[in-house]
Amino acid sequence: MLRRKIRHCQVNRVNVFLSIALTVATLTLVKNHHSRNLELGDDNPDIQVNCTKVLKGDIEEIQNAKLELLTVKYKRRQHHLTENDYINITRDCDAFTKDRKYILYPLSKEEKLFPIAYSIVVHHRVDMLERLLRSIYMPQNYYCIHVDKKSSESFLAAVKGIVSCFGNVFIASQLESVVYASWTRVQADLNCMKDLYNVNAQWKYLINLCGMDFPIKTNREMVEKLKALKGENSLETEKMPTHKEIRWRKHYEVVNGGIRKTEVDKKPPPFQTQIFSGSAYFVVSRGFVGYVLGNDKIISFLEWSKDTYSPDEFLWATIQRISEVPGSVPANGKYDVSDMNAVARFVKWQYLEGDVSKGAPYPPCTGTHVRSICVFGSGDLQFMLRKHHLFGNKFDIDVDPTAIQCLEEHLRHKALYPETHV
Ligand SMILES: *[C@@H]1O[C@H](CO)[C@@H](O)[C@H](O)[C@H]1NC(C)=O
Ligand SMILES: *[C@@H]1O[C@H](CO)[C@@H](O)[C@H](O)[C@H]1NC(C)=O
Repeated sequence: MLRRKIRHCQVNRVNVFLSIALTVATLTLVKNHHSRNLELGDDNPDIQVNCTKVLKGDIEEIQNAKLELLTVKYKRRQHHLTENDYINITRDCDAFTKDRKYILYPLSKEEKLFPIAYSIVVHHRVDMLERLLRSIYMPQNYYCIHVDKKSSESFLAAVKGIVSCFGNVFIASQLESVVYASWTRVQADLNCMKDLYNVNAQWKYLINLCGMDFPIKTNREMVEKLKALKGENSLETEKMPTHKEIRWRKHYEVVNGGIRKTEVDKKPPPFQTQIFSGSAYFVVSRGFVGYVLGNDKIISFLEWSKDTYSPDEFLWATIQRISEVPGSVPANGKYDVSDMNAVARFVKWQYLEGDVSKGAPYPPCTGTHVRSICVFGSGDLQFMLRKHHLFGNKFDIDVDPTAIQCLEEHLRHKALYPETHV
């Protein structure tokens, strides 16, 4: 009797084992099947380039890639999806997300439980925006896109088409006409910050982006980095160089779509504070965002900044040094953080490029320069990918499509098969 019972149990156990094994096998199959379909790489058959070699810094392969771009075959082709293409292909969202290989399920529990919010400020180049979105898109994250009021109708329509395909991507409820180096650049981010803060209470960190940013880490890696911050924000914040003080000592005004200095002196900030120097880019906690939106002292500081030059380049850096702000660091100079030490953005300034073994912070740009900032070539990837930053700036498909192609291929593969990249 007992014997039979045991037998019975064993049979049952075998059955259970079998069915578990079958389920696991099926799930693995489904996952592998999905993963294969989601790999990137054959988007641009006109450029024959071995990205494995490019990412290893293989000089010959990087040269080959450059030469391919000069061939008639490459130049003759229309490579970019246009605004009208996006308006067209986003009419069928299932086909759009499938053809463009969006990842529509969280890749791990850890990532699912740690949503990230994004504020993306753009004004043109819908193809760049869409490739950026595709490379950072995860169903658990939130994406606010601020489209410049001056953008063309077709650009706005194309972005509307893209966001219509996702429940967690939207256009900012309030749109600004952004004037370079003026307050409006900050206002665009603030509009998204407000929307994101209200749309969902679960996300943990906010990252702001522009159309020329591209990730250099997978979502999983970002989650790991953000968790390691333990609530602290990560952005450039350093001592203000004397020559930049004029930016907030004088009253500036916007005239004919440009910003102009006046001879009118500004009052000092509304409370006793040192002004710090930084950049437009930040990685900040949800607590920081809530504080910036709701605290009277911060709001008075924002108000005071409205008639300064490039407030984005001192505002966030200064707020990050006010002791009661969530995730901030002390104002003491010991806590200065350079762009290379913050995780927000990897940027190469032309006048600092050089031989790293002789003291330069990074090797020379292999792309071109725009306002002294490197627009990356594929030869810049190897060094950049070894840095801790979450994003790089600037990328441009027109300057070097292989840089973006190899980067997105690499990140996608790493996202789908993290175990092969340890
Ligand atoms: C690309 O290069 C790597 C190593 O440099 C090599 O193992 C791989 O087979 C190459 N891939 C192709 C498609 O040629
Ligand atoms: C997009 O345009 C092509 C013709 O240019 C048409 O055949 C196709 O059906 C359109 N797709 C959608 C989803 O509207």
